Amino acid sequence: TAPASVIVAIDGPAGTGKSSTSKAVAAKLGLGYLDTGAQYRAITWWMLTNGIDVDDVTAVADASAKPVIVSGTDPAAPTITVDGLDAAGPIRSQEVTAAVSAVSAVPEVRALITDLQRSIAAEAPHGIVVEGRDIGITVLPDADLKVFLTASPEARAARRNGELKGKEAVDLAATREALIKRDAADSSRKTSPLAKADDAVEVDTTDLTLDQVIECVVTLIEGVSAEK
Ligand code: DC
Repeated sequence: TAPASVIVAIDGPAGTGKSSTSKAVAAKLGLGYLDTGAQYRAITWWMLTNGIDVDDVTAVADASAKPVIVSGTDPAAPTITVDGLDAAGPIRSQEVTAAVSAVSAVPEVRALITDLQRSIAAEAPHGIVVEGRDIGITVLPDADLKVFLTASPEARAARRNGELKGKEAVDLAATREALIKRDAADSSRKTSPLAKADDAVEVDTTDLTLDQVIECVVTLIEGVSAEK
């Protein structure tokens, strides 16, 4: 098991298994869990429901401090609320997914959410696994371990479709297109783009099962924990 206060950053594009891996690893090792994508989705959902044009950078920046976003960090039951409302369901809609890259590219939004993430990580009693796009480089550059997950676009689209199945009409080619478009936007934005930190361990999950990825990350954490 991990000692107190190990901070783990897990970054990578959509569909690489970040959430499933991070949650399982945190539960196994008694760490907290923070899904930072859910926070960007939550602020995007608030913008959409409050009639803010998500392509209007000034309007998004001006409104960014209004919603109160609260994340629960229990890996067995992570929660996200906006102004006290449960946002877990609506943040996964196609509307939010299509708008989130634009909202999360706005520097004011990133500054606020980054502060929130740092305070959550600092207050985690037993350490925390934080997953996102810019955790290792920007949010927690002093993390004890940084992992960068990758996978082929085909594998990522197939996994995303598996998650969506039953909820919305899904088409593999459309999922793949949307995913590639979102990654391109997330990787090319000016402020804190998706990127691998120099000191991150890259794990290609294309041909690994979820259990194998979990095992791999647990071993990496135990390695850094032993050094602490
Ligand atoms: O992990 P996800 O697909 O739920 O993330 C949704 C979006 O949020 C993603 O397309 C880009 C943005 N995001 C970000 O900009 N920085 C993070 N640390 C996490 C997510």
